[in-house]
Amino acid sequence: MTAARVFVTRRLPDAWRAPLAEAGLAVDAAGADDPLTPAELRTRAAGAAALWVQLNDAVDAALLDAAGPGLRVVATYSVGTNHIDLAACRERGVVVVHTPDVLTDATADLAMALLLAAARRLPEGQRLVESGGWTGWAPTQLLGVELRGRTLGVVGLGRIGAAVARRARAFGMRIAYHQRRARPDVAAPLEADYEADLEALLARSDVLTLHAPLTPDTRHLLDARRLRLLPRGALLVNTARGPLVDEAALVDALRDGHLAGAGLDVYEEEPRVHPGLLALPHVVLAPHLGSATVDTRRAMARLCTDAIVAVLRGERPANALA
Ligand code: DGY
Repeated sequence: MTAARVFVTRRLPDAWRAPLAEAGLAVDAAGADDPLTPAELRTRAAGAAALWVQLNDAVDAALLDAAGPGLRVVATYSVGTNHIDLAACRERGVVVVHTPDVLTDATADLAMALLLAAARRLPEGQRLVESGGWTGWAPTQLLGVELRGRTLGVVGLGRIGAAVARRARAFGMRIAYHQRRARPDVAAPLEADYEADLEALLARSDVLTLHAPLTPDTRHLLDARRLRLLPRGALLVNTARGPLVDEAALVDALRDGHLAGAGLDVYEEEPRVHPGLLALPHVVLAPHLGSATVDTRRAMARLCTDAIVAVLRGERPANALA
């Protein structure tokens, strides 16, 4: 009997893929860091029992059909699943698995790094030093925002939002949050106030951090009008998904000084970054690094390989989506 084939859409360390071969599966892995085109994906997926995809591979009905009726599982190397047509997977009986929990701390650390870098204007400082234009300490040089006593608004107090809030508490920040339903169990230890109304949260947030999933309802959650509800001088941090924010409106709000800065890990049309953002001094721009630590990426790989093996054995892993 021929071994079931797993198609891995991107280059990954051999050791991280090893559990698949150890389970007797035939691994066909793309050899590059760059995404394959949709046509290449469809060709390589044909006949696969499992697809191990990345957050920038669109898993749509065309790809599922190209893979064929033998496809049993799609494992995404991400917690976010906005790139996957979940309904199309369900219709075809394809199980979708993702990587929750293991990337919570790494992503929260990065959100905090962006927050601190934006608040203390580190990119501007680095450019000043690198340019050779720094003439020495000066009383009003690159003054930033102090965090103690300021309010962090958290949109989505889920795993990552709560982990960011915990870190911010250690910096003396107050926490307020918004999501569809209050989570007193999560909020109580953070002494976090619930705002049922997103716009009320915006109005009181000195720093806003986004941790909502990207869905048709949350696209441009922060549009031009809502960005202006943030207090003048506020900071925005986004480690969730770029399209939650209207990037052109964000550029305007930063350009005219309504916002004091932003720390961004995600963009509306990755890897394209709005040219207006590139031209602004007071933004910190990271290339979608939220989960990018060795420990986390290794743990994410283990979740994917274990889940693929489990589904192909007829089991339902804990990280399968409903
Ligand atoms: C995810 O897993 O969805 C994150 O965006 C990766 O950094």
